[in-house]
Order: sequence, then C-alpha cells, then structure tokens
Amino acid sequence: MAAAGLGSRRRCEAAIESGRVRVNGRTAELGDRVDVERDRVTVDGIPLEPQQEKKYFLLNKPPGYITTLKDTRGRPTVMELIEEKERLFPVGRLDRDTRGLLLVTNDGYLAHKLMHPSHGIEKTYMVEASGALTPGGLAALRKGIMLEEGKTAPAKVKVIFNRGGRCVLEVAIREGKKRQVRRMCAVVGLEIQDLVRTRLGPLDLKGVEEGSYRALTPNETKDLLELEEE
Ligand code: URA
Repeated sequence: MAAAGLGSRRRCEAAIESGRVRVNGRTAELGDRVDVERDRVTVDGIPLEPQQEKKYFLLNKPPGYITTLKDTRGRPTVMELIEEKERLFPVGRLDRDTRGLLLVTNDGYLAHKLMHPSHGIEKTYMVEASGALTPGGLAALRKGIMLEEGKTAPAKVKVIFNRGGRCVLEVAIREGKKRQVRRMCAVVGLEIQDLVRTRLGPLDLKGVEEGSYRALTPNETKDLLELEEE
C-alpha cells in the first residue's frame, strides 16, 4: 500500500485498522498477506494499482483549453499540452478561459481524495474583474455567498487593487463548485476578466510558463500525499 502512494507504513496501518481497506471484497486486517498481481485491494472502494509508477505533473494551463481527456466537439484539451507516455488525467477542473495551475496524474486515489469536498484542499485564484468591490461585497465574499445549490463556505479574500471600476483580488476557497469564483464574484457585482489559479494546496505556479508543465519534485509529491491523509 505504501508503494501505491498511500503514505507511510503507519498511515497504511491506520487505514487498515479503520476498516477502509478491502482485499478481494473482504475487510483487510493487519498482517494479511497480499499478492499484488492477483489480489484486488481497494481503499475507500478505489482499487490500488501498485504495479504502475505514479506520476505527478503541474501544468500552467493557458486559456482556451478544456479540462477533459477528450472533447466531443474537437476543442483543444489540456491533455494535448502534455507529452508523456503514461495514461494521465487532470485533477479537478478549470473553466475553458481560466488559466493557471492544474495537476495532472495517473494516481486515481490521490485525484479522488483531492476532489472530494470533505477534503477541502485550498485553491487560490488571482481575479481581475470589472466593477467596484464594495465593503458589503467584500464582507459577503468572506462570509459566504448564496448560490443556486447553497451557500459557499467562507473565502479568504485579499484586495490588491480596487479603483476606477476595476479590481484585482486574491481569493482562496476550499470547495470546487462549478464556476464558483465567477459566480461568487457575479453576485457581488463583479465581472471576471481574467481568472488564474496560482496555488493548489502546497503547490504554486512559480517558474512554469503558460502552456508548459513540469514534474512535481519528490518533496512536493510527499506534501501532497501527506495532505490527503490529514
Ligand atoms: N472558479 C471558477 O469560476 N472557474 C474556475 O475555473 C475555477 C474556479
């Protein structure tokens, strides 16, 4: 399990003890022996694939690319920017016109964990918008905004510029509702002109030019894997 990217031995044992691990459909116990070629091991219902080396890449997504493996309408997808032999997929979603940090991996377990709402990894966006942010609007963004599907959790909002009918904000949220930042801003009278994801948990965009990508460093990978088990 540790080899499949689940973290330290202690964490693997904790997962077994809490009944999250199954071997061939039966709840695993500490000390069970497993043949990775033949036995089917799942954690929270997700199959482990220890024979496959896990890969993690950080892409700086340009605007105009769809975050999907294939687009039925033939539009460019983020995967066209990645030249690797493994079968990779993007973690989560950025709108077509949103730019910035996108994690791409073949680690289904990590992807599932990061996208799960209960996990709540922090995502930071640089927002450039037309409109004036009022004190009431700022307070509402920070407290939670009512959207169709319910109220958003409090966001961290830093005002970088707010003058002459234009503002620049740094917004950090832990949820991932569809077009969340755009819709939150619309409610307080702002129309987003540019939206860039600058951070995802411990990762940031520094040094990666738009349209290019790099592998995560061993330390970044370790931070991500540990974060998933908090
Ligand atoms: N919020 C949005 O509105 N769009 C994104 O792409 C990401 C977050």
